[in-house]
Amino acid sequence: ALPKQVRLVDVGPRDGLQNEPGVIETAVKLELIDRLGAAGVRHIEAASFVSPKWVPQMGDAAAVMAGLERRSDVVYAALTPNLKGFEGALAGKADEVAVFTAASEAFTQKNINCSIAESLDRFAPVIGAAREAGIRVRGYVSTVLGCPYAGEIEPAQVAAVARELLDMGCYEISLGDTIGVGTPVKAKRMLEAVTKEVPLEQLAAHFHDTYGQALANLYAVLEEGLAVIDSSVAGLGGCPYAKGASGNVASEDVVYLLQGLGVETGIDLQQLVATGHWIAGKLGRSTGSKVGLALGCS
Ligand code: HMG
Ligand code: MG
Repeated sequence: ALPKQVRLVDVGPRDGLQNEPGVIETAVKLELIDRLGAAGVRHIEAASFVSPKWVPQMGDAAAVMAGLERRSDVVYAALTPNLKGFEGALAGKADEVAVFTAASEAFTQKNINCSIAESLDRFAPVIGAAREAGIRVRGYVSTVLGCPYAGEIEPAQVAAVARELLDMGCYEISLGDTIGVGTPVKAKRMLEAVTKEVPLEQLAAHFHDTYGQALANLYAVLEEGLAVIDSSVAGLGGCPYAKGASGNVASEDVVYLLQGLGVETGIDLQQLVATGHWIAGKLGRSTGSKVGLALGCS
């Protein structure tokens, strides 16, 4: 059955902007984050403490965290691939951090330069330090519905990595269709395998829309009761280590879908749409949200 409420995690300021050809000014990122909060988004991935040599677009993570005009009811999260990243996030007073690995060995090598097992070894001290600091840790599993390097991915492999992250202390596991190749029945089967290892209440869907399937895939997992969705305002985004990966599913499109289904999000759609047009304008293009296009800029 459908959930009554969905928590939407807007990953636009991070996943959205990490793949831009140019570097976005810190002030623009801060305004984007502020506008998302004003629209009622309660969970925002604000920054990524990764190597600036690998992802220069996230090189101002410390300045972003320092410049936030924080709302008391918003969680500001940051990506932390290792202890060095965690130290940055801690100094930046992130409310939550996220570690990230994948179900595919080949993708993990390209993205974070290590094996899946090595990535988990790196996360152990991050999760330990986070626990000591009272910071929650989210875990990402990428390539859950296919890998740009290895092709098909077994649902059991996704489940095994998700289980490891849960056992290590992640409170929530976000399942990434990094290159948006999934289709609904596949998504459902993958979720079925993962829920044998991780409770449904601790799972999130992070579906990219590369092949235009993200909303269909989300509907499939919503029907199973999944209640946390990662999306990106204006459909910004993609992973620099997954060639051709276009944006995350647009937040506006997800909110419109959920409204139509009678599922609560607490988000003001019109304000979100306006935010999508605004950031697309800053990037010199039109919004990647169909709902945004339909409702216009008013
Ligand atoms: P490495 O080169 O193997 O690491 O990179 P290293 O430990 O050997 O360090 C190399 C250099 O990086 C050193 O500097 C370190 O100090 C520095 P040097 O001595 O050469 O001057 N360094 C750092 N600097 C800042 N912050 C750090 C940090 N760590 C090391 N945290 C590493 C390993 C993980 C750092 C690198 O591969 C990396 O940064 N990768 C990030 C890739 C990335 O950000 N990908 C996109 C995010 S994941 C994604 O988008 C998928 C997701 O959306 C879900 C989905 O869609 O599926 C989450
Ligand atoms: Mg992503």
